[in-house]
Amino acid sequence: MTDVVVVANRGPVSFRLARGEPTASSPGGGLAGTLRPLLAGTGTTWVAANLGEAGRQAADAGLLDVDGIHVLAVQMESSDYQMAYDVVANGTLWLCHHHLFDLTRRPRFDWHWHEAWAGYRRYNRAFANVVAETAAEGSTVLVQDYHLSLLGSMLAEARPDLSTVHFLHTPFAEPDMLSVLPGDAAGELLAGMAGFGACGFHTEVWADAFRRAYRDPQLAEAAGTDAAPATFVAPLGPSPQALHDAASDPATAAAARALAEAVGGRKLIVRVDRIEMSKNLVRGFLAFEELLETRPRWRGEVVLAAFAYPSRETLADYLGYRSEVEHAVERINERFGSPGWTPILYDSADDYQRSLAGLLSYDVLLVNPVRDGMNMVAKEGPLLNRRDGVVVLSRRAGAFEELGTGALGVNPFDVTATADALEVALSMAPGERAERARRLLETIGRRTAADWLEDQRRAAS
Ligand code: G6P
Repeated sequence: MTDVVVVANRGPVSFRLARGEPTASSPGGGLAGTLRPLLAGTGTTWVAANLGEAGRQAADAGLLDVDGIHVLAVQMESSDYQMAYDVVANGTLWLCHHHLFDLTRRPRFDWHWHEAWAGYRRYNRAFANVVAETAAEGSTVLVQDYHLSLLGSMLAEARPDLSTVHFLHTPFAEPDMLSVLPGDAAGELLAGMAGFGACGFHTEVWADAFRRAYRDPQLAEAAGTDAAPATFVAPLGPSPQALHDAASDPATAAAARALAEAVGGRKLIVRVDRIEMSKNLVRGFLAFEELLETRPRWRGEVVLAAFAYPSRETLADYLGYRSEVEHAVERINERFGSPGWTPILYDSADDYQRSLAGLLSYDVLLVNPVRDGMNMVAKEGPLLNRRDGVVVLSRRAGAFEELGTGALGVNPFDVTATADALEVALSMAPGERAERARRLLETIGRRTAADWLEDQRRAAS
């Protein structure tokens, strides 16, 4: 892997200052958490900007070789980073690809936003410069996610000898939604992506939306090309060994005991998510409320454990959503709770062991995103679960394409249908639970994270 360069916003470590010294800690999950164990010991170069507030100091101190991964820090003005990460990547492109624009009010593409787009371009340029200056002749460059979509054309121009791939971990917006972006920005995005040797997606649905963007006359004109680059579909799978190792850690067993005590022998519904609009937590809680309201026999008999950890709190949308989520939990607990029974056990601490404990012990796993590139919880849950638990899964999660025959599919907007699915899952006969769990395991076992990485390398060649 010494001829491979991985490029991502986040690095394999995050640095914080401990007693004035930069100290490394691992990212919990997400893309960086998936890639780090795959690349450990391979000598791969990983180019990243987000290494925590102390990352710059760590780079100066030469601390950046991690687990046999050579980390290159991209330096830029903090205002460019903020405009690229907050305003464009997460405040615009994330919402666009997930179809989360609240079109009545936003987006508003004013001059501030156009400045931020220029910041996003400079952020991409800073990455392109580091790769162009450091990659060995003929290297394979694997660029991850929507933060770095402009890199394709930049690298094609600066270093035509490199084999470049872009992998998008989100869905890709339908052409109509992409057309909400200012024409020049949408065009630059598509031109940037067209410069890659190949663009990869978790499912065929997202790959198809991407190719159709180039067939849209206005978008193609703005991009200056109607030729989509080669595409490939590479669903990310879990890392079974790493998961099983973490699950057999004594700390996970302790978390599982604490959870069992809190649940008190009742049925257990679990959800594990970042606090994120696409994850649809509020409708999930409303569905649970409807279950308790319309099927009173479940009152006192079921607990929903919601492990929801904060994310991207520099953005007002995320903070506002968190308060809606927490308000719904409080209201429902107030309405239905009784001495000795809290209907929703909500915990917003980012605690990996506790999340694993939830996955080990659920009767029902609720995964109901409004739109999701893949959703790894839907795959990690069945791999770990010890109770033949049932997965209630949004048909709009990328994972549904593979897991649809074992999971119970729901329309994530339909609260009543989600409540009905929870009822079906909670009441399912042991034979059917076991059969569905078997099907899920069989499907999930077919692909690991290592296969996904290999697919990217192959697409580059
Ligand atoms: C999504 C993205 C991942 C990212 C994760 C955490 O799942 O697709 O690429 O790792 O969110 O996002 P963050 O903004 O915290 O890096």
